[in-house]
Amino acid sequence: VAVDSFEAQSTTPAGKALLAIYEGGGGCFRGSRPVHAKGTLCRGRFFPSLAASRLTTARHMQGGPVDVAVRFSNASSNPHSLDNALDVRGMATKFYVPGTGAKPEQAAHETDIVAVTLPCFFVNEPEQFPAFARAQRSGFTRLGYIALHPTSWNATFALGRAGKPKSYATCRFNAIHAYRWTDARGGERYVRYSWIPLAGVQKLPRRRARKGGENYLAYEIQERLRAAPVRFKLQLQIAGPNDSTRDPSTIWRSPTTVDAGTLELTRADLEPASEDLVFDPNRLTPGIDPSDDPLLLFRPAVYEMSSKRRSARTCP
Ligand code: HEM
Repeated sequence: VAVDSFEAQSTTPAGKALLAIYEGGGGCFRGSRPVHAKGTLCRGRFFPSLAASRLTTARHMQGGPVDVAVRFSNASSNPHSLDNALDVRGMATKFYVPGTGAKPEQAAHETDIVAVTLPCFFVNEPEQFPAFARAQRSGFTRLGYIALHPTSWNATFALGRAGKPKSYATCRFNAIHAYRWTDARGGERYVRYSWIPLAGVQKLPRRRARKGGENYLAYEIQERLRAAPVRFKLQLQIAGPNDSTRDPSTIWRSPTTVDAGTLELTRADLEPASEDLVFDPNRLTPGIDPSDDPLLLFRPAVYEMSSKRRSARTCP
């Protein structure tokens, strides 16, 4: 894989963001993701609801189940991060939309949802991201950043209350950005996604949190899947008049939600090649478009650069 020199990359906004992630995360772990480095891939299917098919023409929302890959992760940059440390958890989902015919618009393709256990993000402009990422290098610099940036307060407060999950299967994951769904008549609405665990949101009791073990989340999900499928509901929150479509640091207040379908995971995929998958919050499909959120529009360039770098196993 051809990878531009890091010097050349780091003059672009995406390159600056990636460099800042390495600086804040304590270096580069060759071949790993620079954040969400430790993960477990699972496979299964998604069953869309009738309500979802009425709100978008997107093919994976039209009735038949579609195959999915889901990568659960810890947000840390360290591929050996401790599952029993306080951290944000990730759930990246890839829908494999089958082809329906020979025309280009009927071709098989993938579409992704990238979500975390926070209800909102720490920054809302790409320009703010490098300073935020660099501030992660110690508790002291992180606190300093938070004190000076009120935009980060909603996410910080949520992180403080997060606790440690009993299982990846008992976390609620949110995709944070707004997306525009278009139906067959051209009707449009802005939505935010959440994956709601059907096992219920469950945390480890405080006194057990340290005893969880450094790989308890990775082992637990494999064991759980051996016993029974793991299910999540895809919930759409439909934007209300006061919900910002361009500010991912805010929490939406709209009470209107729609059940868009059920995800059913049936097995873990521990093949090393499963780590090569690349998820992208802007890998969309006709019937679903990005909102005007500048952070959402910025992320794909960083993810692409990062995935090239890790597949080439290079460091700056
Ligand atoms: C400007 C803001 C952001 C930047 C620059 C950024 C950067 C990155 C990078 C470089 C990766 C590794 C990609 C790879 O090598 O495949 C990554 C992964 C990830 N990010 Fe972000 N991120 C941002 C915001 C967010 C937000 C808002 C969320 C939550 C919705 C999020 C959730 C994740 C998750 C879950 C992964 C792991 C995906 C996987 O399992 O492959 N990120 N991010």
